[in-house]
Amino acid sequence: MTEPNRLVEVNDLEVVFDTVEGRTHAVNGVSFSMDAGETVGIVGESGCGKSVMSLAMLQLVPRPHGKIARGSIIYYQRGKAVEITKLNPTGKAMRALRGNEMAMIFQEPMTSLNPVYTIGEQIMEVLRLHQKMDNTRAKQRAIEMLEKVGVPDAAQRVEEYPHQFSGGMRQRAMIAMALSCTPNLLVADEPTTALDVTIEAQILELLAELQRDINMAVLFISHDLKVIGEIADRVIVMYAGWVVEEAMREDIFQNPQHPYTRSLLAAIPRIGRRERLVSIPGRVPSLSQLPPGCFFAPRCPAATDQCRREEPQVFTVNQGHTVKCWNYWDKEVQKTS
Ligand SMILES: Nc1ncnc2c1ncn2[C@@H]1O[C@H](COP(=O)(O)OP(=O)(O)O)[C@@H](O)[C@H]1O
Ligand code: SF4
Ligand SMILES: [Mg+2]
Repeated sequence: MTEPNRLVEVNDLEVVFDTVEGRTHAVNGVSFSMDAGETVGIVGESGCGKSVMSLAMLQLVPRPHGKIARGSIIYYQRGKAVEITKLNPTGKAMRALRGNEMAMIFQEPMTSLNPVYTIGEQIMEVLRLHQKMDNTRAKQRAIEMLEKVGVPDAAQRVEEYPHQFSGGMRQRAMIAMALSCTPNLLVADEPTTALDVTIEAQILELLAELQRDINMAVLFISHDLKVIGEIADRVIVMYAGWVVEEAMREDIFQNPQHPYTRSLLAAIPRIGRRERLVSIPGRVPSLSQLPPGCFFAPRCPAATDQCRREEPQVFTVNQGHTVKCWNYWDKEVQKTS
């Protein structure tokens, strides 16, 4: 039975790209769920399939090379299950969902801001289209939204073009645009990666505040576990298109089980020390040439022959905490034998 508060369920999702070099498995059987108002963080190094995963949630996987090859994404619209993967990506139903219920913020604000229209015109367009507001009301609301995201002199700046905004202000304008339809689900793909730490902190605070205001669920994607730790209730660790560990934030930080999660934690600079991020030895494999067995095996200090041969199963550590690693299975066997 479905939880009453359930907003999204992703089941065994696979997203592939077919190019001249062959097939790339960007997302490999990912499953997770989100409740209304919850913040779920997806973390993993660059090239692990995080952006592709987030684009898939809104049916925005670049075509014609990319496609959802398997699995389902169920979105509960006022309690009614809508199978996103069955909707035409450019059709009316999907566009209506994207504008009214789901919104996305991208790492690079210029991806969603059009340089030839003023910031105000772009926010107003969303409001006119999806909330059926007239021009006067839409402008008033656009100014309110810009004020809400901390753009100073919003009444004047609403008339400016994206190039007149600094990077941080553009990011704020994009957040204002995404939130102007008061979505139930916000997918935020590395929304602060291009910003300096002071602005990053402001944006994170702002997102949390707006989220409380409108009880919006946020899927927050980042390569930085520290940022995820500041914002997420629950954390999903992705490696090479797999979910390798999932748990409540406290469990990820205090009781990490997967060797990859432990490496990510070890790479976070200690508070107060001005050291550079320690990188994890080795590289994420090419998603078009994945190794047999565990995809992390070539970099894993605990890898065994079984790891190099067989895909690890998902084991339950405790309620809500799962890990995809043979090593955990070994521990269980030792415990029970
Ligand atoms: N437009 C595309 N065409 C072909 N392959 C792509 C495309 N976008 C992403 N990919 C593949 O998917 C992989 C994962 O990409 P991405 O989701 O952007 O990773 P992340 O966001 O974790 O850094 C890339 O390494 C690439 O192989
Ligand atoms: S399955 Fe094996 S190789 Fe993969 S993470 Fe676990 S111990 Fe390491
Ligand atoms: Mg990305």
